[in-house]
Amino acid sequence: MRSFVMFFVMVVMAASANADVITERKENFRANVKSLKLIQPAMEQGDMETISKEAESIASWAKAMPEFFPQGSDMGDTKARPEIWENWDDFLAKSAANREAAETLAELAAAGNDEALPGAFGALSKTCGDCHKLYKY
Ligand code: HEC
Repeated sequence: MRSFVMFFVMVVMAASANADVITERKENFRANVKSLKLIQPAMEQGDMETISKEAESIASWAKAMPEFFPQGSDMGDTKARPEIWENWDDFLAKSAANREAAETLAELAAAGNDEALPGAFGALSKTCGDCHKLYKY
């Protein structure tokens, strides 16, 4: 009986830990969209500070991202596909590509290289889609 209760408690704890991690990662992804929406007009206005800041925030989420995908967190209110854990190395590579593209954009903006910005912005957006195509429902 006692071990049954313990097992039940552990299952509930694991489920709520997953719920937290899912909620948090979705918030971070929504923040990515906000950043992209701030970067776009900032490119037209030559507001390098905003571009750098928002691109850096995308990069820092990209760095943390894998920790927010523990095994089994495709259960619950989530669009994460089980393929993430079947192809974990590729998922890591895609989050790293996202991070690198965001860092490149931040560096170009910091250097005031406005001609290179649209291309770097396009490259960054592509890394979002590259991952979603395979790993998000
Ligand atoms: C390495 C993979 C990966 C990268 C890179 C990535 N995403 Fe995602 N994204 C996901 C996964 C997986 C989900 C599903 C998360 C869930 O529902 O638990 C998701 C969910 C989302 C959501 C839905 C959030 C919600 O509230 O349900 C948005 C919006 C989003 N991503 C935007 C972006 C943007 C913008 C970028 C690029 C700047 C990006 N993502 C980069 C994998 C990625």
